[in-house]
Amino acid sequence: MAKNDRANFGSKLGVILASAGSAVGLGNIWRFPYETGNHGGAAFILIYLGCIFLLGLPIMIAEFLIGRRSRANTARAYQKLAPGTHWRWVGRMGVLAGFLILSYYAVVAGWTLEYILEAATNGFAGKNSGEFISSFQQFSSSPWRPVVWLVAFLLITHFIIVKGVEKGIEKSSKIMMPTLFIIILILVVCSVTLPGAGAGIEFLLKPDFSKVDGNVFLSAMGQAFFSLSLGMGCLCTYASYFSKETNLTKTAFSVGIIDTFVAILAGFIIFPAAFSVGIQPDSGPSLIFITLPNVFQQAFSGVPILAYIFSVMFYALLAMAALTSTISLHEVVTAYLHEEFKLSRGKAARLVTGGCIFLGIFCSLSLGVMKGFTIFGLGLFDLFDFLTAKIMLPLGGLCISLFTGWYLDKKIVWSEITNDGSLKIPVYKLIIFILKYIAPIAISLIFINELGLIKL
Ligand code: PHE
Repeated sequence: MAKNDRANFGSKLGVILASAGSAVGLGNIWRFPYETGNHGGAAFILIYLGCIFLLGLPIMIAEFLIGRRSRANTARAYQKLAPGTHWRWVGRMGVLAGFLILSYYAVVAGWTLEYILEAATNGFAGKNSGEFISSFQQFSSSPWRPVVWLVAFLLITHFIIVKGVEKGIEKSSKIMMPTLFIIILILVVCSVTLPGAGAGIEFLLKPDFSKVDGNVFLSAMGQAFFSLSLGMGCLCTYASYFSKETNLTKTAFSVGIIDTFVAILAGFIIFPAAFSVGIQPDSGPSLIFITLPNVFQQAFSGVPILAYIFSVMFYALLAMAALTSTISLHEVVTAYLHEEFKLSRGKAARLVTGGCIFLGIFCSLSLGVMKGFTIFGLGLFDLFDFLTAKIMLPLGGLCISLFTGWYLDKKIVWSEITNDGSLKIPVYKLIIFILKYIAPIAISLIFINELGLIKL
């Protein structure tokens, strides 16, 4: 292996918490409940679990092994493992996807800061549902406030990134992830003990297979990729900081389990609370930023202090989950600029932050004053979301499974997965089979479906 003077994660726990930090984000707490709500509750969750463990984890292992073997940023990784081939474009596409995702993800992440402030200054008290709708619409379309929060969120991310891999990423994950688990558990207990919460719990536990069709399978797969941060080299970049002793398969399992656990617990916060006040699960941003503050006020109308605490904690949770994800997105691009263009880490990070602020401002404005400016019929925010989540991530995942399953020398794959034969990995053959056949076929189906070429 090449001589290595790169940074490393300092501990096994750090490896798991940083990778889980990347995976756990707005995708778990905002997107997962809404997808579950739309696709039949428990039945969707069962299929989602199948997607995580059958497809997501093998691809995560593939990303891990590419990153750790090459010990380089995701663009260089493919250059090192497949010199002189076009595979390097997979890495470059990942860096671009990271940059674009960060630009619009930070807009929503910024909203969480506004909502923390709003909740902390008791701004939700006494509002009715109409007022929650209009205040969210007014806020998200205003030209100033969301931009200020977006810049603030990116500066916080920047501050952690420039501290480096161990002192920045690892340390912040070690503080934020346990805090996040504690907040989630408190919120779950509060939510499931509300009067009438049983209907929400039943929705999450009792599968209704009558709603399951091809589309549900495809949505569950798409959600699994987004939620596990797969397909754009995030976990590949993190794995380049893993040590030779890290058990890639075990780490992937831990990350998958934590990510799934958080998503399901987020469901246990949101559905029991929503059902208890008779609100149906709504879609997209409104579930978190319109419906939920309303739910908190109604559910705890007799005890305003609980409504207050519940709201502040929930948005703090959302902000922390988003932050550990924006850090991982930022790192993909920073590591690339730092290593490929010989810029100092600080300078690389400043370029990324500056670039994302620039693009992010336009994403934010595209929800308000620039609504009329569209490309292919989409505003910039929606365009970035579509381009990345629906095109670049599935395409990246497809390429990663083909690269590992077909192109890469099986000796390399074997030596990375088993740590040169020192680990017994009973599922080794299954992982290879999935990477070779199942994943490419399944991802092709999602991809084609999302582009609207077929409708299952
Ligand atoms: N997995 C993150 C979430 O659930 C989003 C993300 C996608 C982060 C891709 C990094 C890369 O919010």
